[in-house]
Amino acid sequence: MALDFPAQAKALALVSVLSGSVSTYKIGLQLYTAAGPAILQAVAATGAKIFLDLKLHDIPNTVAKAVGAAGDLGVQMLTVHLSGGSAMLKAAVEAKAPHLALLGVTVLTSSTQETLGEIGIASQLQDQVIRLADLGKSSGVDGLITSPREVGVLRARLGPDITLVTPGVRPAWAAADDQKRFTTPREALKGGADYLVIGRPITAAADPKAAVERIVEELAD
Ligand code: C5P
Repeated sequence: MALDFPAQAKALALVSVLSGSVSTYKIGLQLYTAAGPAILQAVAATGAKIFLDLKLHDIPNTVAKAVGAAGDLGVQMLTVHLSGGSAMLKAAVEAKAPHLALLGVTVLTSSTQETLGEIGIASQLQDQVIRLADLGKSSGVDGLITSPREVGVLRARLGPDITLVTPGVRPAWAAADDQKRFTTPREALKGGADYLVIGRPITAAADPKAAVERIVEELAD
């Protein structure tokens, strides 16, 4: 579940409400910058796993050191930008603790063909996603973050051994919010996703625990 909150108190209140229903919490740049490593310890103390979504992209040595530090903090998943290239990715893979899964980000879903053009990438956006996914696999990352619309293509191309994580999923009863290219949780799983990242359908629900249970029931059907 995406724990997209501005500060620790609100985040921990929701973790407490959802206790036992959610296996892993995704903590991103906003909450981590506001609350620091203490938020990781507080969430881990509830027995949940942590997906630290920092989307690292820097020189190989700096990324390797940050990956090592994240491993020391006990997180189970960490994101890196695949556009950092193979030297950065291989340094990250070498530095990671055995319990840490390194997940690669291909092209952000907020990027368009125009965005790629602005930074000098002439490839078609879909080709760029595939190129980066292949680079991630050959560099040894454990998994990829992917749109649920692309998860089937990537699963077919990369095989069963890579972990595919999809944000941008919406149950039929939830608001789309700003997500444009979403699918239902069930469709994402059928396409081959291993993990679903879901935020506002749970955080904005009047009863967040009931929302999680409804999603789990729909997946089990
Ligand atoms: O609230 P919602 O379910 O849309 O949250 C999805 C989470 O996944 C957010 O933390 C968002 O930043 C993240 N994400 C995304 N699309 C991507 C990459 C990350 O929605 N391509």
